[in-house]
Amino acid sequence: MRIADKREPTEYEACMSTRALSLTHTTIGKKMVMAISGLVLFGFVIGHMLGNLQIFLGPDAINGYSHTLHSTPILLWGARSTLLVAIVAHAVTAIGLVRLNRAARPVAYVSKKDVATDYAAKTMFLSGITIALYVVYHLAHLTYGVTKGLGYQHLPVDKNNWPDVYHNVVHSFQVPWCTAVYVLAQLALSMHLYHGAWSLFQSLGLNHERYNETIRSSAVAVAMAVCVGFLAVPIAVFFGVVK
Ligand code: HEM
Repeated sequence: MRIADKREPTEYEACMSTRALSLTHTTIGKKMVMAISGLVLFGFVIGHMLGNLQIFLGPDAINGYSHTLHSTPILLWGARSTLLVAIVAHAVTAIGLVRLNRAARPVAYVSKKDVATDYAAKTMFLSGITIALYVVYHLAHLTYGVTKGLGYQHLPVDKNNWPDVYHNVVHSFQVPWCTAVYVLAQLALSMHLYHGAWSLFQSLGLNHERYNETIRSSAVAVAMAVCVGFLAVPIAVFFGVVK
């Protein structure tokens, strides 16, 4: 008599059989959430980078820009809440995708050579965590003014909503280790943007042999532009171009 297969269902099989699949439970649904939240975050990154570059126009320009933001609550809190929703969606979905991938392959491959997609996914997770840690440091440093070890007094927004972003930025980046932290974080961000922009097109099915090279070069160009745009500020301060 044949003994029935008593094998326990894998997490993936259990998930598939017990739950009516909504789009966000599927890999493609999750990838779409990653793509949309990624685009929102990308929009913020570009806006923030352009805002930062106003430091080259002098203290009045960058402080005035920050003053406008801080005295327009709808703008400030609208941007902050959109950003928060996008960050949470992006991070939670990334964890969900990793879990789904693992559940679909509970038994490790006997011999596993990293293919390009594995490599991209791994570095995406690592650079994503680096960016998350950096944002926590960055908020403590420039928004909340925790400047222990940087040797200057952080100037908060005054009662008329006038910040002194120029003072805070210039004093910070005169400290080598602070500039180094920002340089490393921007490198992680550019790697993440490059892979993100590339996989966005793959996830949305917008790929074709004929256009893949153009998509790849555009992803490299965008990542490099963001890297140079962000790094311009700490590097210019560090070398005394902005003081
Ligand atoms: C060299 C690079 C950067 C510089 C010089 C810089 C500078 C600043 C400054 C001065 C503020 C405070 C603005 C104010 O109080 O008006 C700020 C806020 C912020 N930055 Fe950056 N930033 C850089 C890169 C980044 C990157 C790469 C990210 C995200 C990936 C980021 C995310 C944020 C966030 C989330 C805030 C808080 C916005 C808020 O007030 O809600 N920054 N940044």
